[in-house]
Amino acid sequence: MAGIKVLGIETSCDETAASVVAVKAGARPEILSNVVLSQIEEHAAFGGVVPEIAARAHVEALDGIVEAALADAHVDLANIDAVAATAGPGLVGGLIVGLMTAKAIAAAAGKPLIAVNHLEGHALTARLTEGAEFPYLLLLVSGGHTQIVLVRGVGDYERWATTIDDALGEAFDKTAKLIGLPHPGGPSVEAAAKRGDASRFAFPRPMKGEQRPDFSFSGLKTAVRQAATAIAPLSDQDVADISASFQAAVADALADRVSRSLTRFHAAYPDIAAPALVVAGGVASNALIRETLQKLCAAHGFRLVAPPPALCTDNAAMIAWAGIERLQAGLSDEGAMGFAPRSRWPLDTASAPVVGSGRRGAKA
Ligand code: KG4
Ligand code: ZN
Repeated sequence: MAGIKVLGIETSCDETAASVVAVKAGARPEILSNVVLSQIEEHAAFGGVVPEIAARAHVEALDGIVEAALADAHVDLANIDAVAATAGPGLVGGLIVGLMTAKAIAAAAGKPLIAVNHLEGHALTARLTEGAEFPYLLLLVSGGHTQIVLVRGVGDYERWATTIDDALGEAFDKTAKLIGLPHPGGPSVEAAAKRGDASRFAFPRPMKGEQRPDFSFSGLKTAVRQAATAIAPLSDQDVADISASFQAAVADALADRVSRSLTRFHAAYPDIAAPALVVAGGVASNALIRETLQKLCAAHGFRLVAPPPALCTDNAAMIAWAGIERLQAGLSDEGAMGFAPRSRWPLDTASAPVVGSGRRGAKA
């Protein structure tokens, strides 16, 4: 195909987003617009995302967000080659809003619709931003998922590791709530940790040293609860020290867990000299975690590829891009107009689901 422009729509959790991405033969892809409206304020008082409120907010905002994305990109629907929308996994109310809107736009404009897996959007972003080449390892650390996925090609994924209980972002959010910090917990804990003493509390490093490559964070959260209860009421310094000690435990456990998969990759692909570990998801914006992964990659002969934070967190450019990748790979989606949203939709359908892994139906 000479040139392709795709309109992407993302509504799987608490961001209402639309974007236009274009690619021309032989040139790097271009994000023509990327509009993201966060609902953080709507959910703040509840200490987490409320599905019903999220769905209503998407209904109110999406039309305007799509218009803004087209206007920013200086295109109208006639110049678009396809419409790509997140069809799962995520909160089903939001998915319905986005997918139905995309179906209506596609039908009215006479363009094909592509039903995109949100996780595939995260998985392929590094190809949009850095031109990453297959195969590579993806570490997805978000509010809903903590996974390592081997990305062999478009639509060709193998899950190598996952959390057996909480997602990492969820562990940050729950810890923040326990010690009285505002939602979303990740940025609050990171900010508090700057003033804290990371050696004050010896929190556990769940699964450290185990052969199995998976993650676990619920024991860490329990340890935080016990420590906080023991010294309640918490002073500002206590909150800072717990935050710093929690973050240090997370970084240490993460490095141990991820190292298993880096070793496995080298064994699977001995001819790739400097393979890429691609990180995605909101937790990847944490400075200590980035630094830890950077060192780990250097020690294992990997390159750490971290797309800019705005494209690591939820956005529609990654959905438009996944649509383009699918079109280019000849995976266009004949049945998309009949596609029903899926609250659960693993990237690697062959791997057995892990009980308790990540929040049910939560954002990815
Ligand atoms: O990728 P994301 O924006 O949304 C999805 O979950 O898809 O990730 C949100 C998660 C939240 O749990 C939030 O607390 C966490 O990412 N997060 C962070 C940081 N910024 C966001 N966790 C640790 N440190 C941060 N700086
Ligand atoms: Zn996500």
